[in-house]
This record gives sequence, structure tokens and C-alpha cells, in this order.
Amino acid sequence: MRVEGKVVLITGGARGIGRALAERFHRQRAAGIAVVDLDGADVAQVATSIDGLGFAADVSSEAGVRQAIATTEERLGPIDLMCSNAGVAFSDQPGWTAASQSDGQWDLAWRVNVMAHVWAVRALLPGMLERGSGYFLHTVSAAGLLNQIGDAVYSTTKHAALGFAESLAITHGEQGIGVSIVCPQAVDTSLYAGQEHDGPAKAASADGVLTPAAVADAVIEGLADERFLILPHPRVADYIQRKSGDYERWLKGMRRFRRSLFPDDSIMQPGRER
Ligand SMILES: NC(=O)c1ccc[n+]([C@@H]2O[C@H](COP(=O)([O-])OP(=O)(O)OC[C@H]3O[C@@H](n4cnc5c(N)ncnc54)[C@H](O)[C@@H]3O)[C@@H](O)[C@H]2O)c1
Repeated sequence: MRVEGKVVLITGGARGIGRALAERFHRQRAAGIAVVDLDGADVAQVATSIDGLGFAADVSSEAGVRQAIATTEERLGPIDLMCSNAGVAFSDQPGWTAASQSDGQWDLAWRVNVMAHVWAVRALLPGMLERGSGYFLHTVSAAGLLNQIGDAVYSTTKHAALGFAESLAITHGEQGIGVSIVCPQAVDTSLYAGQEHDGPAKAASADGVLTPAAVADAVIEGLADERFLILPHPRVADYIQRKSGDYERWLKGMRRFRRSLFPDDSIMQPGRER
């Protein structure tokens, strides 16, 4: 799909990958771009720079997602490309076990990283099926294909986001509905830089830290090919093969990798309070 002439909505568009997508789509001459995020002032700035529409919307509830879609469609017309990009990440604190995060953080991550995608599809699919076309771009993560060391909440919800996107592509791929997922490793954004401990960040950045603009370039290429899996870090393709080729070996390698990243770091040992 070509972005030129299309109406696009991007969630989490105030900064990082969402903002870079908005800027890139503007250069590709999208017909209309709406960006939403938690803070209206932040998105208003982005909207001004791309001659688009920006307003506050919280995608952690179905009402918030529906409101974002309704406002966009009222102002710009039917959405051709829905970019569910907003995301949250929490490392395995306070106990650094795989289950130490609070239910509240698990719930929020489930809502933002997974259900926001489901709610957008639920709202948009009927109109898209009627028109015989529509496209969903979901920002997932390499953590959804592999795993993010030290971040069970993120890894689990991103795996779920991957599963949902697969279901969407399988169920509606022959009805004019396109689906792509973008799965980078580390990208230089506030989500990546804002982690309280550098362990998960070190794990994610083993193959380099990309700029958000580089991720947006990879997205443009992937959309042009209507490719389901967009991998801004190409080595992720090898890692998926290694994982599926020999799961036991892959797990052993990941444990070794974790040890190598945190050789003397007692807070990364299970059961230790920070
Ligand atoms: N940065 C990385 O290393 C990396 C790697 C792989 C995937 N990702 C994914 O990329 C996406 C974008 O993240 P980013 O790296 O650009 O980080 P970012 O922090 O720059 O942007 C994320 C945006 O999502 C917004 N957001 C969070 N909760 C929201 C909510 N309830 N409603 C509306 N907006 C909300 C935030 O306010 C923020 O502006 C996320 O889904 C993230 O998981 C990031």
C-alpha cells in the first residue's frame, strides 16, 4: 500500500516512533494524518509540524480508542491506515522475578499493548469490509517474536499483540484488509531510554539502537510490499529461525545472554528486592 492520498490515524504519536511515522507519512503526501497521545499539547505540536490533526486520547480504554477514531473520521473522512503504535513497558521490578510486576501494570500493559489494537479493529473493520479495503499497522516489537530479558510484562503482551495481528491477517487477508507489524529491537525513544535499570535496555540494544526515522523508513518499505513482518533490525529474522529451529537451545542461549549482561548485578537475581 502507498500512503499517498490515504487518511491515517497514529496512536502514541507525540514522540518516538509514532511521531517519526507521522512525519514520514506527511512527506509521502498522505491525504490526512491524525496523531493522538495522552497529552493534547504534545500532539498539537506534532500536528502543526505536519499540517495534521492532533488531540488527546487515552487508548487504554475502548471508549478512548473509539473517540479517537470517531473524531478522526468526522474531520478527515474514513481511515485507510490505522497505526496502533502507543505502547508501555515495565521491567521486572520490584523483585526481578518474572512475575514480580503488580497486577495494575500487567493490566495497563494488556490494555495499551494488546486491547487497544483489538478495539481499533472492532471499530474500523465493519466500514473497511464494506469499502473492501483498509490497512492496520501494529507496532509490536522483537520482544513479541523473541523475548525482552528482564521485562516479562512487555514480552508477554507483545507476544499477544503478535498473535492478534496474525489472527487479523489470517481471517481478513482475503477480504481486502492489509496487516503489517513492525518489530524493532532497540529504538532511541523515551520508552527505551526511560527504563529505571539499564539491564533490559542493554539486552535490547545488542544489535544497535536505531533512530525512530530509520524505523519509519523500514515501515514505508514494508507497507509498499504489503509485508506482514517488518524487521528494522534484519538480524531478528535469524533469531526467529534459531528459536523455532531448536527451542531448548534458544532458551539456553538466552539464559547465557542474560548472565553475560548482568554478571555481577545482584538486583537481577530472582527474589532480591532492589
Ligand atoms: N523504543 C524501543 O526500543 C521499541 C522497540 C520495539 C517496539 N517499540 C514499540 O514502539 C511503540 C512506540 O514506542 P516508542 O519507542 O516510540 O516510545 P515513546 O515513549 O517515544 O512513545 C510511546 C508513546 O505512547 C504513548 N502512550 C502510552 N500510553 C498511552 C495511552 N494509554 N494512550 C495514548 N498514548 C499512550 C506515550 O505517551 C508515548 O508518547 C510502542 O508500542 C513500543 O512498545 C519500541
